[in-house]
Amino acid sequence: MKTIFRGKDFITLESWTKEEIDTLLDVSYELKKDFAMDRPTHYLPNKTVFLMFFEQSTRTRNSMEAGITQLGGHGHFLDTSTMQVSHGEVAKDTAVILSRMGHAIACRHCIWEVGNKYLNEMARWSHVPIINMQDDLYHPLQGIADLMTIQEKRGRNTKNIKVSVIWAYATTHKKPVSVPVTQALLFPRYGMDVTLAYPEGYELPDWVIEKARENALENGGSLRITHDQEEAYRDADVVFPKNWGSWFKNPSTEVVDDTLEANRQWKCTEERMNLTARDSLYMHALPADRKNEVVDSVIDGPHSVIYDEAENRLHTAKAVMALTMGGR
Ligand code: CP
Repeated sequence: MKTIFRGKDFITLESWTKEEIDTLLDVSYELKKDFAMDRPTHYLPNKTVFLMFFEQSTRTRNSMEAGITQLGGHGHFLDTSTMQVSHGEVAKDTAVILSRMGHAIACRHCIWEVGNKYLNEMARWSHVPIINMQDDLYHPLQGIADLMTIQEKRGRNTKNIKVSVIWAYATTHKKPVSVPVTQALLFPRYGMDVTLAYPEGYELPDWVIEKARENALENGGSLRITHDQEEAYRDADVVFPKNWGSWFKNPSTEVVDDTLEANRQWKCTEERMNLTARDSLYMHALPADRKNEVVDSVIDGPHSVIYDEAENRLHTAKAVMALTMGGR
């Protein structure tokens, strides 16, 4: 078991070895048991994590803020519209200064072709770990909670579990690709047989597909791509029907366009869930665009584990902080 984490950035799980991710999961399970037993877990007394948000959040903000409190530390919520970054202060100056005042900097920055570069620039200058709370490419805090939830429901050996990541129609906002990219890269590392399904226009880039296939080859999993949603639902053990934006094909920030409207039929319905394995799991990172992405009878139905998945955001966020801000 890998035990040395202090100061390690958490920007993408691609920079964490499987051994490191396994330790992260082990710590998450321990922290979840402690939470259930109401046992104190003050592993980070008097430590500060800065929580910089360029965008809205419910799960990520609250799992980090509640999480650091439960670890004995404090989280400073920073709305970046009230910080000098909104007047053009550069990532270097923000990173150096915050890292002299606290013990980690967490940041959500999903602006296309800006967010991930911003986080990496902060990591270049920060003396403390940078934690990615979602950027334009990756959402590792969501990926690790998804993996933990699948393991809890299906056992820690996830080899050849059939997981389908399926595009779905939504109009709430043009969502980042960071969730499907993270899932496509992570799940094959755990031996899963991943199906990626989307209509034309919503492709993930070649480098993601190539890396996902490499990850699959190394770990006994697989990755297939289809444009037929029924095919993706058929016999699946786990489905993630979720919208993502057409960023790689069309970087416009416009939410509704002809490509989106042509694909209104990409929705998770009871009929499609009936194609999946009998005891399949319906999962969603949330927030869901109810009625567009999924019907209520599925998201509130017997296959749905969305609230367990969301709760696991707390336990995994605490594990990331406990290991990178404290630990050895
Ligand atoms: N899944 C997720 O990151 O939720 P929030 O956007 O509410 O943080």
